[in-house]
Amino acid sequence: MAFQKIRKAVFPAAGLGTRFLPATKAIPKEMLCLVDKPLIQYGVEEAVAAGCTEIIIVTSRGKSTMEDHFDKSPELEATLAAKNKTALLEVARSVSKLAKVTFTRQPEPLGLGHAVLMAREIVGDEPFAVLLPDDIVDAATPCMKQMVEAFHETQSTILGSEVVEGDAIQNYGCLDCNPDPHNPRLLAVKHLVEKPRPAEAPSQNAIIGRYILTPRIFEMIEGITPGAGGELQLTDAIKALLEHEKVYGYSYEGKRHDAGDKQGFLRATVELGLKHPALGPDLRAWLKAQSF
Ligand code: G1P
Repeated sequence: MAFQKIRKAVFPAAGLGTRFLPATKAIPKEMLCLVDKPLIQYGVEEAVAAGCTEIIIVTSRGKSTMEDHFDKSPELEATLAAKNKTALLEVARSVSKLAKVTFTRQPEPLGLGHAVLMAREIVGDEPFAVLLPDDIVDAATPCMKQMVEAFHETQSTILGSEVVEGDAIQNYGCLDCNPDPHNPRLLAVKHLVEKPRPAEAPSQNAIIGRYILTPRIFEMIEGITPGAGGELQLTDAIKALLEHEKVYGYSYEGKRHDAGDKQGFLRATVELGLKHPALGPDLRAWLKAQSF
C-alpha cells in the first residue's frame, strides 16, 4: 500500500446532548462555549493542526448554528471593518478560514458507528481521522497530531487511549492490548469491547474520542448489528476490522476533559480559563482572592 496521509477529519455531532439539559434543549452541545469558543472549534483546530484540510461534521436536526459558525459572516465582518475593529475582524474571519468544512446528516440516532458511516461518500477510499467533540484534549502537541505522526509509522488504525481508574472503564470502549516494543506509546490491540462491566473489562485502557481509521472500517460498520445500548457501535466495527488489519491504541501525551459532562465542563472551564493568555492572569488573581 502506498504511503497515505490523513487529510480528512470526521466529527460525529448528531447527538441530542441529553447529559447537558437544559442547556442543550435548543443549542447543540457542540456549540456550548468553553472559555471563549464553542467545543467543536477546539476539535476542528486540533484536526487542522494535525494537517487535516477537510472537516466533515455529521449533524442532525437543530444543529444549523454549527454551519453558521464555520461560514463567512459578511454582515459581522462589514460592521467590524467599518468600526476599525481589526483584531476582532481577524478573529471572526479566521474561524471561516480554518478548513473546508462540509456537513452531512445522520437521519436517525443509530449510534456512533452509524454516524461515521454517514461520512463514507465524502471520505472516499482513504484513511481519515475521527474526533468526538466532547473530548477536549489539552496537550503541548495536539493529540491528533501525535496520532498522525504515529500513523506515519504504522499506516494502521490507531485509537486514542488512556488508563482510567476503577469502574470508570464501563463508560468507554476498552482495549485488551500489549505495548509495542519499538514505541512505548503504541499498544498492539488484541481485542476490544464497548462499555464492559468492570469485572469483565480486559484492562483499564479506555478508548477516548480520537481515532485514525482505515477506509475498510465502512465495510465493517455495514456488517455489524446493534451492540451496547442497542446502537451500531464503532468499537464493534473496529473489532471486526481487527480480523483483517492491525489496530493500535495510542497513549497520547496530554490531559483530557469530558466536556460533554457538566462536572467535566466546569473543570475544563477553570483549567483552560487559567491557561488562556489574555484571561488567565486576572482569573487566577480573582480565584486566589476568594474565600469560597
Ligand atoms: C464513545 C465510544 C466509546 C469511547 C467514548 C470516548 O462512547 O463509543 O468507545 O470510549 O466515546 O469518549 P460515548 O461517550 O459516545 O458513549
